[in-house]
Amino acid sequence: VSLRPYNTFGLEVKARLFARFSSVDELRALLALPEVQQSEKLVLGGGSNLLFTQDFGGVVLKNEIRGLEIISQDDASALVRAGAGESWHGLVQYSLDQELSGIENLSLIPGTVGAAPLQNIGAYGSELKDTFEQLEALETATGELRTFSAAECGFGYRESVFKGPLKNQFIVTGVLLRLHREARTNVRYGDIQTTLQDMGVAGEPTPRDVSEAVSSIRRSKLPDPAQIGNAGSFFKNPEISQARFDELKSQNPALPGYPVPGGVKVPAAWLIEQCGWKGLRRGPHGVHDRQALVLVNHGGAQGQDIRDLAYEIIASVREKFGIELHPEVNIM
Ligand code: EPU
Repeated sequence: VSLRPYNTFGLEVKARLFARFSSVDELRALLALPEVQQSEKLVLGGGSNLLFTQDFGGVVLKNEIRGLEIISQDDASALVRAGAGESWHGLVQYSLDQELSGIENLSLIPGTVGAAPLQNIGAYGSELKDTFEQLEALETATGELRTFSAAECGFGYRESVFKGPLKNQFIVTGVLLRLHREARTNVRYGDIQTTLQDMGVAGEPTPRDVSEAVSSIRRSKLPDPAQIGNAGSFFKNPEISQARFDELKSQNPALPGYPVPGGVKVPAAWLIEQCGWKGLRRGPHGVHDRQALVLVNHGGAQGQDIRDLAYEIIASVREKFGIELHPEVNIM
């Protein structure tokens, strides 16, 4: 089966086996098949955080569990449950339609609801963990369904236990978020305020205003995977010690940095741009010209070439700044 429609890099790779499931029971039935049991399994949501560097010899399980509903509510908040196969942005739109606030800053992030907790998706000053209540996941080995609280998910910056100690052991089937009736808009991220002004929004913005501002910022900087293959940020933003930051800052006065517990977070895009990579094009693949953190497939690129470019970028940033970048995308 060609995986081209199932990875936002648009890479032409194949999977030996491919199956879809739209309920927990269907998933259990698939996992019980000997062919599936004996194969390496890859659960796919939107395929928006993946780089395939070769054909996949195992079984791809495409999560298509649907469902968006408010399962309980009071005057202050609502508990929203979303099936893991729903599109993330679809959930954001649903929350706006229900006049709920909390995930508007996470508008237009590609991918599915089920993939969101794996890397604790975040953008424009919000993270999934800010509204996350619980998730439901099936243990691959036993077929048992269990729930994970936020604490049990071990969320960090683009991190969770599902990328660490529990990697490949659970398949997320549903996610519960606690969203607010009162607008709790977060416009601390500078670009949002200027964009709201450009939009002519005066006074308190509504969650929908913020969603539109974020969408407009994303459209201006990030390539649309339907047009140019990409998986969003290819690297995480590195954290360095305050001492190391001060030293680098004295040599590079323009170096941006944001304080985080234990040090300073530096934008990888800045480091990559300083190394001269922004807008680079090597035939069909390269570095996006408006966001240096995004590697792109202009059409017909090979996954290995994108991976090799990523490692060249890592080496050049290490050489110039002594900082180690780590891929955020899952390289298969
Ligand atoms: N910058 C450059 N050159 C560039 C782009 C950015 O020097 O080409 C510098 C600028 O100093 C800018 C700073 O980097 O102020 C931050 O840039 P931006 O606001 O675009 O955010 P980012 O740190 O590069 C992160 C997330 C994005 C998220 C944005 C907005 C990571 C790995 N990436 O990028 O997430 O949308 O913040 O909050 O944390 C994703 O994960 O796929 C993703 C797109």
